[in-house]
Amino acid sequence: MAELQEVQITEEKPLLPGQTPEAAKTHSVETPYGSVTFTVYGTPKPTRPAILTYHDVGLNYKSCFQPLFQFGDMQEIIQNFVRVHVDAPGMEEGAPVFPLGYQYPSLDQLADMIPCVLQYLNFSTIIGVGVGAGAYILSRYALNHPDTVEGLVLINIDPNAKGWMDWAAHKLTGLTSSIPEMILGHLFSQEELSGNSELIQKYRNIITHAPNLDNIELYWNSYNNRRDLNFERGGDITLKCPVMLVVGDQAPHEDAVMADSGGQPQLTQPGKLTEAFKYFLQGMGYMASSCMTRLSRSRTASLTSAASIDGNRSRSRTLSQSSESGTLSSGPPGHTMEVSC
Ligand code: BEZ
Repeated sequence: MAELQEVQITEEKPLLPGQTPEAAKTHSVETPYGSVTFTVYGTPKPTRPAILTYHDVGLNYKSCFQPLFQFGDMQEIIQNFVRVHVDAPGMEEGAPVFPLGYQYPSLDQLADMIPCVLQYLNFSTIIGVGVGAGAYILSRYALNHPDTVEGLVLINIDPNAKGWMDWAAHKLTGLTSSIPEMILGHLFSQEELSGNSELIQKYRNIITHAPNLDNIELYWNSYNNRRDLNFERGGDITLKCPVMLVVGDQAPHEDAVMADSGGQPQLTQPGKLTEAFKYFLQGMGYMASSCMTRLSRSRTASLTSAASIDGNRSRSRTLSQSSESGTLSSGPPGHTMEVSC
């Protein structure tokens, strides 16, 4: 009998007929490192933080987050929050190509642009949602401005600078691969890329034919030149807020906990991510448990008891909550939630 193969199925649950996307307003502000564009959805809620997103390399806010934020079940969450979606400079739709020799901001400088966005909007606190390079940028922002970050959702973060081995591999790949192929190799696993699903074809097409490909290369270079975030277990450099750490199952280095690349769960698993996000927000006191699905309520109950019994850093396929919070934070029990999807 032929062997059963695991197939990756992209979850789909579009908005219902009554659920129309909210109007968006796009703004640009000047910062010491150039101008930055961001798009605001929803209306500010005085007692709640804004959800602020930062996308990965090769993408913009829409190509990175639309499938998640327009997922049917996500609506009951986001209707309670204003959302600010930041585009890295030169990644916004219609962005002109930067002139030759333009000094693109480092990831640390991109993080330093965020206060200008929040000041412009008069928002005091955020829950950050970042993918890959965006997760790094939001972590750096949270380290520098801990009082303004109530929570972080970090998808496929690599907090370390490239080591010399990584550089050697990167240089070798660069000899035979184009920039779009290298970025696709950062976003997706080799298995996904060779499977060439509709999703892969779509993103390969977007990146290969991007009119701002030269700008994308600059963001890519900044990502590859990132320095260590230097998180220390029990040390001074830690995230002070609750963290939901998400690792895509398709991440090539999934066992390394924080993946260098691979898998875009916000594109392929919006349902799982939505459920985990609800649970995370509930832990922060922002979602009444009555809003949670029956499945997630029962998981919450079993997770809560599991966490209180052994408190170990277990890595289940779905949700695990860690009281020993690992390399990302050393806050109180239950501070870090790990999700693999
Ligand atoms: C939002 O509702 O926040 C959203 C809508 C479309 C794309 C990205 C985000």
